[in-house]
Amino acid sequence: MCRHLSKFAPIFLLIALSGLLFLLRNILTLENLSFYTRSKPLQLLNSSHTDVAQMGPLPPYRNLTFCSHLEPTPDEALEDRYLLNAITWPKPPAPVPFNQTSDPVHSLFAILPSEGRREWRVGDQLEALVQMHDFQGRPKPYGGDFLVARLHSPELEAGVAGRVVDHLNGSYSALFPLLWGGPARVEITMVHSSEAVAVLQRLREQRPDRFFFQSLFRSGKLSETTICNMCLPPNVPQEPLCNYTDLHTGEPWYCLKPKLLGCGSRINHFKGGYKTDLITNKEALLFQSRVNIKVVLHASGPDGINVLPKKTGPQSLLHLMEEVAYDSPSGYYYHGSWRSFGGTPARQFSDSSSVTRCLTGKVIHMYGDSTTRQWFSYLTAFVPEFNLRSPEQAGPFMAVDSKHNILLKYRCHGPPIGFSTVSTSELRYVANELDRLPGGPHTVVVLSLWAHFSPFPVEVYIRRMRHIRRALVRLLDRGPGTLVVIRSANLRALDRDVSLNHSDWFSLQLDRVLRTMFTGLGVVFVDAWEMTLAHHLPHDVHPPPAIIKNMMDLILSHVCKS
Ligand SMILES: *[C@@H]1O[C@H](CO)[C@@H](O)[C@H](O)[C@H]1NC(C)=O
Ligand SMILES: *[C@@H]1O[C@H](CO)[C@@H](O)[C@H](O)[C@H]1NC(C)=O
Ligand SMILES: *[C@@H]1O[C@H](CO)[C@@H](O)[C@H](O)[C@H]1NC(C)=O
Ligand SMILES: *[C@@H]1O[C@H](CO)[C@@H](O)[C@H](O)[C@H]1NC(C)=O
Ligand SMILES: *[C@@H]1O[C@H](CO)[C@@H](O)[C@H](O)[C@H]1NC(C)=O
Ligand SMILES: *[C@@H]1O[C@H](CO)[C@@H](O)[C@H](O)[C@H]1NC(C)=O
Ligand SMILES: *[C@@H]1O[C@H](CO)[C@@H](O)[C@H](O)[C@H]1NC(C)=O
Repeated sequence: MCRHLSKFAPIFLLIALSGLLFLLRNILTLENLSFYTRSKPLQLLNSSHTDVAQMGPLPPYRNLTFCSHLEPTPDEALEDRYLLNAITWPKPPAPVPFNQTSDPVHSLFAILPSEGRREWRVGDQLEALVQMHDFQGRPKPYGGDFLVARLHSPELEAGVAGRVVDHLNGSYSALFPLLWGGPARVEITMVHSSEAVAVLQRLREQRPDRFFFQSLFRSGKLSETTICNMCLPPNVPQEPLCNYTDLHTGEPWYCLKPKLLGCGSRINHFKGGYKTDLITNKEALLFQSRVNIKVVLHASGPDGINVLPKKTGPQSLLHLMEEVAYDSPSGYYYHGSWRSFGGTPARQFSDSSSVTRCLTGKVIHMYGDSTTRQWFSYLTAFVPEFNLRSPEQAGPFMAVDSKHNILLKYRCHGPPIGFSTVSTSELRYVANELDRLPGGPHTVVVLSLWAHFSPFPVEVYIRRMRHIRRALVRLLDRGPGTLVVIRSANLRALDRDVSLNHSDWFSLQLDRVLRTMFTGLGVVFVDAWEMTLAHHLPHDVHPPPAIIKNMMDLILSHVCKS
């Protein structure tokens, strides 16, 4: 049905306009919604000291059912708009030539004195002020650059993620809690310029077809392969479709119908590839490795400080963090170990017997992408894997220790999973799998869904998370005591091509949606974003073993609390 989009463009415009009016009318009533009260209020006014995500006007209302027959209910539509508003990103006011775009080499940061003094103590906040410049060395007049910040100390193997506040005038503040005594250095990285983010934003809304999929159909001696996606692009010539919309969740999925075979003969699903005609040569300048993708900024003065111990009596860091607001980090590294502020202190599970003891009597179900598969692989060093002869990427996988009554399972999430080959019989939606679990105190559910969603509009992700959230609520009602662990997105290595399809900017946006949607559900959150940002090892979609070990220690600490 999306193939008819262009024909109906005027109608869609009308619908969009009426949607906008509808939205404006509703802005005032939004304040009274229940899901609203848990989070920050909607920021409609200009305010210089809020996170970039809260800035800017409401996004235009898009009636984006995205090739689905699913109409969001009024509540869902409101939640969509709330979430989309919360991730609004400031856009450059007008297109500019390349030499007026943000240049990390000309940009500088400075550590601000603490209350006028050059003395910092544990428990204080450190602020670094960033001024972005263009390639001609002129200060940038507007915000929207994607910056990340960390405070670290190689000597102490310590690190913490900073919070970046966009002042929308070319300057930014990076804020860090001071959590350890001794040396601390500021590192601020421009991931993308604001002009590059605008390109990514356009690709996400207009070219969700840039990552496509295929399926093999087979019957007897005949076989055919066709293109599949959540939404087939409007320029595909008019051809009949096979509709694989999931009957339980309503998640849409379509393939072009094979010429000879029926829709029932689809035997697998695999990653088709990436479109390459995405950006102009001029836009390509905004995505140059070592020029304007993930380049570290220089400091105009010293880039580090020495933190003195707290003056007054001993105070635990946990206590310290409780005094810090909503946006405080979820933990930090010290002597190479992640210390989480979540309440349960992370223990070290360094020998095989401590891991086995912790997992004894547990059934652990892992669902998601390859970043959860990494966790499964980590645990197979302690729990022997049962060879199901599954494909290497997609699984499913199982590990069993019958002596200690331990069962570990991994299964990949449903489309748009971009693995090499998944058999249709193993292609399942996480929400449906959760509905099959009885749950209870011996059950642990681990989820990670992010990397494969980055090429798609955020609405797609919101819808998927909503189905999973409903299934989790049912599971927790059915089996009280079920432990649910949700893994956030993490930073990854970026070059031009990876940026266009899977930039950290997409991940960050999905991550904010994820956090907001699962707040208050009593799930354990593994903040892979901060755990990769705060660490000194290079960003990788599959974080290195040292970080995985820290994640697993955190999870195991929750699995066996006592
Ligand atoms: C929100 O609720 C308050 C108190 O319940 C009420 O006074 C106010 O009129 C409501 N605002 C809107 C815009 O509905
Ligand atoms: C927001 O900022 C713009 C530009 O700085 C200004 O023109 C406008 O009046 C401000 N709006 C409010 C509500 O303060
Ligand atoms: C969205 O568009 C569909 C048609 O594509 C229409 O039936 C529906 O009423 C629209 N929803 C809203 C809230 O405007
Ligand atoms: C695909 O199937 C679903 C569920 O049966 C249905 O609601 C939807 O309208 C179908 N889509 C199209 C394009 O026919
Ligand atoms: C900046 O780019 C514009 C357009 O490409 C060009 O006309 C101008 O000469 C450039 N300025 C400098 C200082 O390089
Ligand atoms: C940008 O805004 C911040 C916060 O309002 C302010 O402190 C700073 O001076 C401004 N910078 C410029 C160059 O206007
Ligand atoms: C992403 O997009 C680019 C540009 O269109 C394309 O050339 C590239 O192959 C894609 N794939 C990956 C894995 O980055």
